Parts: sequence; structure tokens; C-alpha cells
Amino acid sequence: MAQIRMRSAKGPNASEIEKKIKRGNALRQSSSWLSTRVVLALLLASAGVCGSFMWLYLSSLDPEITETLARQSELLSPEPRVFPVPCSQDYEQHKRFPGCTIQQCARAVTDAVVTREEAHVLRRLAERGLSLAGSEGGASILDLHSGALSMGKQFVNIYRYFGEQLDEVFTEEDFRLYRDVRRRIQSVIARTFDLNAEHMYLTKPTFFSRINSTEAHTQHDEYWHPHVDKVTYGSFDYTSLLYLTDYGADFSGGRFIFMDPDGNRTVEPRAGRLSFFSSGSENLHRVEKVTWGTRYAITVSFTCDPAYGISDPALPTAGP
Ligand SMILES: *[C@@H]1O[C@H](CO)[C@@H](O)[C@H](O)[C@H]1NC(C)=O
Ligand SMILES: *[C@@H]1O[C@H](CO)[C@@H](O)[C@H](O)[C@H]1NC(C)=O
Repeated sequence: MAQIRMRSAKGPNASEIEKKIKRGNALRQSSSWLSTRVVLALLLASAGVCGSFMWLYLSSLDPEITETLARQSELLSPEPRVFPVPCSQDYEQHKRFPGCTIQQCARAVTDAVVTREEAHVLRRLAERGLSLAGSEGGASILDLHSGALSMGKQFVNIYRYFGEQLDEVFTEEDFRLYRDVRRRIQSVIARTFDLNAEHMYLTKPTFFSRINSTEAHTQHDEYWHPHVDKVTYGSFDYTSLLYLTDYGADFSGGRFIFMDPDGNRTVEPRAGRLSFFSSGSENLHRVEKVTWGTRYAITVSFTCDPAYGISDPALPTAGP
């Protein structure tokens, strides 16, 4: 009975079974297509991961760079990224100024003080100023405070040399932005190092720099030597660098390197990025040679000693 029923059940069900088999095949096909896609995706993903590791590996191959403190692609905001370092003994021979003399040495980087738009305006200002002359070698400077501008193998004073012509090169607004940025830099340094901004003074040299890959013609063009700002410039207590162009996009090479006994640590320039540090031997540094493109930056320096203070620049026609 059962067999008969099965057999008789088989009749009407035969086409059902065929359908099931076809559906199963179709499913299997689509699932094998699916799994091919999954395998492909996995392959791609692992290739990506391998690629990233390869990139990390290759970039870690730069034998002279131990650590990158700030990459160009990062946005350090709103708080500065601070790296404390033990103070050198440089400060012991110097007079102490309450509210300004360093308590805890460090280096710091922030992208939150100057916008990229402001950096662009300042870069245009530097381009126009430096286009008046410029060094024959790869490094030129423009100091709006003293008026010093690289020209050939030496310097000229733009205020004396170009006089009223400067009205066509700089605007009052340019100078206002420059002064305002200087004030903001002073205040972020004061906040970070727990100082009184009113007891800090702008000092010299404070200047724009333009560096390209052309070889040096004089020693003024040799920007890449390791140095300590407090030793080189005496009056410096806090050094800051405001970058106006992007590492990797506008130029290559030109990274800032802190040379520590246990390794080299870099800051990659980024337009609008401010890097600042205590100026003593704890922050021995150099700038890597620029290999292509043009690097623009402003060095803004502060002292604790009012005797070394300088004032903000003003256009001769507009200022006192
Ligand atoms: C670098 O700048 C100088 C001007 O200071 C210019 O004469 C030279 O052609 C520039 N070099 C490159 C490679 O752009
Ligand atoms: C740091 O860089 C200098 C050259 O710029 C190199 O001689 C030195 O070996 C580097 N230090 C380390 C620890 O990699």
C-alpha cells in the first residue's frame, strides 16, 4: 500500500522534483557567483591591507626618521599636540623672567590657530614681497620688521630701497592680518607653556622664508644645518614656525626635523600649521633639503627679555 502510494505520489511530484533540482542548480550557480564575489572582495581587501602595510613599511624605511610627530594629512585641532622634552641646561646661564621663563620644555603642533585661507593670504603676501628681489640660491627671506629682503648674494632694506612702491605690493590689510596672526601665536604659546603673554616679546629675526631646490650660492642659502635657536640667535626663548604650503603637494623634502639623541622626529608642513617649541638645546633641529616645488613659512620668535623686544611692522605710509 505504502509503496503504491509512494509510486502514485511520485507521478504528480516528478515535475515538482525537476523544478526543485533546477532551482537548486540556479541557487548553487548564483551562490557560487556570490562566493566568487566574496572571494574577490576579500582578495581586494587583503591587497589593500597589504598595500597599506607595504606603504607603512616603505615609509618606515626612511632610515633617518624615527617618528613623525604630525603628518601633513592630519588636522590637529582644537588643542595643540604637545610633546614634553626635558629642558637643556641652556636656561641656567640666563636671567629668569617671571611669567615668561620656561618651566617645562616642549614642542607642540596645532592646526587650529591660523586657517588655510589665512595661510593662503600670507603666502600671497610672501610671494609678492619676495618677487621684488630674492636670493640667487634656493633660500630667500623677507623680514617685514627690519625690512631685510634677500637680493642676489646679499640683502636690501625694502623700506629704503622700494619706498612708496611698496603701497602697490602690500596692503594695510596684509599687515593687519600679519599682526593679528602674531598675537594669536603669542597667546597659544603662552597658554601651552602656562606663561603670561604680556611678559613675552616678539624678537628678531621674525621673517618669511621661501625655499626651493636650487643649490645654495652663499651660506645664507644653507638652511639645512642642524642648530639650536637660542645658541644661533641668543634672544630666542620660544620659536614658532607657521607653514604656508603643503608638504607633498606644493613641495617635497623640507620637513622639519627635531634631532634627538635617540632619533629624528619630524613635523610635516601643512598650510596653516603652527609648530612651536622652547628654543634651547633640547630642541636641536634642522630642515630637510627641499627636493622639488617651493616651501613658504614664517618664523615668529619670542623673547622673555624686554631689551630684545621688537615691534610689529607697519606700512611706512600708514604707520608712525
Ligand atoms: C628657485 O628660486 C630662484 C629665485 O630665488 C629661481 O631663480 C630659481 O629658478 C628657482 N628654482 C626652481 C628649481 O624653481
Ligand atoms: C638622524 O639624522 C641624522 C642625519 O640627519 C643621522 O646622521 C642620524 O643617524 C639620525 N639619527 C637616528 C637615530 O636615526
